Amino acid sequence: MLKNLVIAVFLGIAILSCQNKDKKEEEESTKRELYRPVYHFTPIQNWINDPNGMVYLDGEYHLFYQYNPFGNEWGHMSWGHAVSKDLLTWEHLPVALKEFRNKDDTTQTMIFSGSAVIDSANTSGFFEKGKKNGMVAIYTSNVHASGKGVAQHQSIAYSADKGRTWKQYDKNPVLNIGLKDFRDPNVFWYAPDKKWIMSVVKPLDYTVQFYQSQNLKEWKLMSEFGKKGDMTKIWECPALFPIPVEGSDQKKWILTVSSGHRQKNYLAMQYFVGDFDGKTFTPQKQDEILYVDEGKDFYAGIPFNSLPASHTKPVMIGWINDWEYANKLPSAKFKGSMSVPRELSLQSTPAGYRLIQTPVSLKSKQEAGLDEKDLKVSGNHSLDFSGESYEVEAEISLGSAKKIGINLLKSGSEESSLTYDVSSSTLSFDRKKSGNVDFHERFPSIESVTVKPQNGVLKLHLLVDQSVVEIFANDGEKVMTDMVFPTKHEGKIELVSDGEVIFKSLAIHGIK
Ligand code: FRU
Repeated sequence: MLKNLVIAVFLGIAILSCQNKDKKEEEESTKRELYRPVYHFTPIQNWINDPNGMVYLDGEYHLFYQYNPFGNEWGHMSWGHAVSKDLLTWEHLPVALKEFRNKDDTTQTMIFSGSAVIDSANTSGFFEKGKKNGMVAIYTSNVHASGKGVAQHQSIAYSADKGRTWKQYDKNPVLNIGLKDFRDPNVFWYAPDKKWIMSVVKPLDYTVQFYQSQNLKEWKLMSEFGKKGDMTKIWECPALFPIPVEGSDQKKWILTVSSGHRQKNYLAMQYFVGDFDGKTFTPQKQDEILYVDEGKDFYAGIPFNSLPASHTKPVMIGWINDWEYANKLPSAKFKGSMSVPRELSLQSTPAGYRLIQTPVSLKSKQEAGLDEKDLKVSGNHSLDFSGESYEVEAEISLGSAKKIGINLLKSGSEESSLTYDVSSSTLSFDRKKSGNVDFHERFPSIESVTVKPQNGVLKLHLLVDQSVVEIFANDGEKVMTDMVFPTKHEGKIELVSDGEVIFKSLAIHGIK
């Protein structure tokens, strides 16, 4: 009898502790879902990296992306797929291009990064006569044996139903130069010569090659560009495209490459501005290395192809992450997100052309918020707003302050802080106290950029979204993108100044 009682008590305790464990796990996973951004693209589940094949067709913006259908770390690379009508709300579609087993039965092919084009003149011959909406994907076929790289070459696949179903070209690969590292083809239509142009990298040589083709199947080398700029890391994901110069009718060409960061051993994107004559890219005389985004978490960005004429500027999306710690993010169900699409242009400055980036308007997603005019701040000033997915637009008249700050996602001493040092014109983002920073030793960091005030005014535009912070200073002259993982969720915002400063305007809106 006593024995039975003891067994029953033990069983009871075991069941209770199991239930508690389940509850704990559930709580933990709900908490981790809090890291999921609201208005930044994330997959329903699993790992993502680079945006791929971004193209517009018949009212839909297509976003393909590096995706692991089987897990939450890098592997089995395939192209995930989503479409949007407004660049802000995305509809998830089935995986477009999947890893496949090769005929030799010992190797497999992963679908690495690349681009997509609309072959409206049916130059490839893949489509029915008169159909103007054939889509062709040009990607790196990464051949591997149990994960060990064997070869990289460029291959194509085509879709006659707006990217919903795909066929592989039966004579793939279309470009093979016998290298183990040769990837990330970015293709566009070059109207003056009626031909396709591909930029593709030899990552270990810091070299971009430019090829031309009449039919997307046969490619001929035209020229190379490289061994310049930041060579602290390999080069990946090149893109060459025309870009307007602000306040003029002029267009220049820009070449973007994903590579090293100003801070050693992190990753970033760099850019070169110049001219392109259909064969060769010639950079402007450039005496400094130019980075697209000076935060830690913006990589592998590429522009959309075939945008309608209503877009007067190229639109780029980048992957929000850094390979240094990408696989270790503390988010559970999904890993990785995409930036809000950015419009790109150039500004002509005495030092040369400089990239300007502005996020597409979030107006249609704004909720009621806070709108202040001529707000005087000295010391610490808590705002009557809290949240974790919102947009801030501020014009700050610097006054007598030496240090001005905005503390975001604040819960007690946990905060992500943006500080402007007036004497050195330095804008810094510090995520050392932002929450969970211990998941990787390379994660806690401070990023800084030089931003000169314009007539004594500093402009800031911040996109804060759970675990993503995109910072645009002075109308997109300088940009920093960083992830943060708050453990507490009061989501307060605090302004700080060591002298008197006037926020000429301050608008904060929740984003749904
Ligand atoms: C860049 C990259 C590309 C490659 C892809 C593989 O992040 O390394 O060079 O195609 O990711 O997933």
